[in-house]
Parts: sequence; structure tokens; C-alpha cells
Amino acid sequence: MKLTYYGHSCIGVNTSGHDVLFDPFVTGNPLAGGIVLDRIPATEILITHGHGDHLQDAEPIAKRTGAVLVSNYEIATWYEKKGVAKTVGLNIGGAANVGPFRVKYTTALHSSQLPDGSYGGNPGGFVVTGAEGSFHHAGDTALTMDMQLLKPFNLRFACLPIGDHFTMGIADAIEAALLMGVKTVVGIHYNTFPPIVIDTQAAIEAFAQAKIKLLLPGIGETIEL
Ligand code: NI
Ligand code: MN
Repeated sequence: MKLTYYGHSCIGVNTSGHDVLFDPFVTGNPLAGGIVLDRIPATEILITHGHGDHLQDAEPIAKRTGAVLVSNYEIATWYEKKGVAKTVGLNIGGAANVGPFRVKYTTALHSSQLPDGSYGGNPGGFVVTGAEGSFHHAGDTALTMDMQLLKPFNLRFACLPIGDHFTMGIADAIEAALLMGVKTVVGIHYNTFPPIVIDTQAAIEAFAQAKIKLLLPGIGETIEL
């Protein structure tokens, strides 16, 4: 699998010949000036919750690529009304076949109002399972005991928020990784805005102490996982 970091919580995963794109937010990210929105590939767009910093750029990418947009029922319906052709609206605990994948919408402890004030359903994360195994994007969440339910997926890696203030911070993200039984974590939702600036070196060291590898690819960087 190849993972490309587009900044904040926006992650692209290339696997099974598909490009799974999570939480498209580039044009509003002061750190992502080097990313060209029109060149981001997507066959599936997975949106964890309704906040602007997770979906601001989803509509143009969905319309350009024809990707299937997967989110909770309320957000999927909101995009259907905007003319996004292919949507899948899940709810917490539910899974569906999307392309070559099984996509499950998992628990997150957060909020989810859409940018226009509409109800954005419950926030979540995703476990994506394909021929190369399973991986997880947690969206925005607090540490929750529900994370131990992900252990049977034998996750290859998990994308976990580490920026604190709006989500888990470093210590809670380590606890989350331990609950999931995951050994490789890609840090998301940090450094984008002043309240979520962290000491990245300290974060890497803290994860290493717990025998977990924390990867913090640069914006625009692609890594093999
Ligand atoms: Ni949020
Ligand atoms: Mn957020």
C-alpha cells in the first residue's frame, strides 16, 4: 500500500489499484499550498464527519473523478443534494462493499455539524478492508474503549489524530493504538492551526517508548506501508 499525506487529516491510500481518499481539506489548509487539488486522485472519498476541515474540498474532487463518496447517512444525503452522483450513507457499526473494499463506519467521540449548519449525523472513523489487509482512519475522536473492538482487524496501520485540543493528544493516541493492537500509526490533525501545534519529535519518542512507530510524512509525501 502507498499512503500520500495531503496535510491535516487528508490521506490518500493506493491499494488494489484504487485511490481511497480520506477527509479532503487542502485549499483551506495554510500548510498545504504545494498541493494541487485538481491532481489528487480518488476512486472512493471517505468523509469521517461534517466539519469543514474534513470535507471542504470533497465536492469538486467527487465531481471531477466520479469517485464514490462514503460517509454517514446525513452527510451522504447532503452531497447527493449537491449533485454528487455516487454516495454511500452508513451509520455507526455498519459496513458496505465499496469497489473492491469492505468499508466499516466506526465509533468516534466528537461532533459533526455541517458547514451550512445542517445536522451532520454522528462522527465516525473507517476501517477499510481489501486484498492487502485492513487499515483505519479515526477521523476526529477522543480516546474511547470502543477502539479495542478494532483489534480483530489486525490493522496494518491506523491514522490517528494527535494534535490535542479538538481530539486526542499524543498520550491518548498511544493508548488508542495499544487498544487497537496497531504497531504503525500515521499522525493526523496536528500543526495545521495554532491550538493543535505539537512537538513532533517528542511525539515520535513517546510512541517509540510504547513500541509503536509514529510516522509523520511531509505534506505531499508518499510512503510505502
Ligand atoms: Ni472535527
Ligand atoms: Mn477536525
